[in-house]
Amino acid sequence: MRRAIYPGSFDPVTNGHLDIIERGCKLFDEIIVAILVHPEKQPFFTIDERREMLSQVLQQIDRGSCKVRVDHFEGLLVQYAVAQQANAIVRGIRAISDYEYELQMALMNRRLEPSIETVFMMPAETYSYVSSRLVKEVFQLGGTLDGLVPPAVEARMKQKVRPAAND
Ligand SMILES: Nc1ncnc2c1ncn2[C@@H]1O[C@H](COP(=O)(O)OP(=O)(O)OP(=O)(O)O)[C@@H](O)[C@H]1O
Ligand SMILES: [Mg+2]
Repeated sequence: MRRAIYPGSFDPVTNGHLDIIERGCKLFDEIIVAILVHPEKQPFFTIDERREMLSQVLQQIDRGSCKVRVDHFEGLLVQYAVAQQANAIVRGIRAISDYEYELQMALMNRRLEPSIETVFMMPAETYSYVSSRLVKEVFQLGGTLDGLVPPAVEARMKQKVRPAAND
């Protein structure tokens, strides 16, 4: 039984995240998509909203026989991973710029908890420039999110800023 944690903010979940989860499903029996709670960060979506959206869009991807569930946690990732009896942490690498930070985190996590391996996965090229931050920026400036996030996520973003409108 191979269980991995895929941690992140998922504020909101993008097609890049889903691509990594689909690929992870080929390697693991179970993936826990774990939202990291940052008490001091001001998010766009609440934890509950992010959990709900993730659960919804995860139904739409190819999971094979892999079980994918959504959770959230606070504090040290490796402590959470051990508590969940996970073997690995999955992280997505888009470009060299991700690698530097991710390598540092992976090595620190290994030092803190040698039993857990970090697995880096590369998304399809189409998603190699997609980030939640950029998605929010494009959205706030009125650009289309077609192909960057699932339609349900774009709809939730619109709803969030214009709760009264029903288009
Ligand atoms: N398009 C993508 N392709 C591959 N990996 C990705 C992609 N977007 C995010 N990831 C990876 O998913 C994990 C969780 O990322 P996170 O929730 O921080 O998303 P993010 O898009 O980087 O958000 P933010 O812009 O807020 O930092 C990280 O390992 C990150 O590198
Ligand atoms: Mg990020």
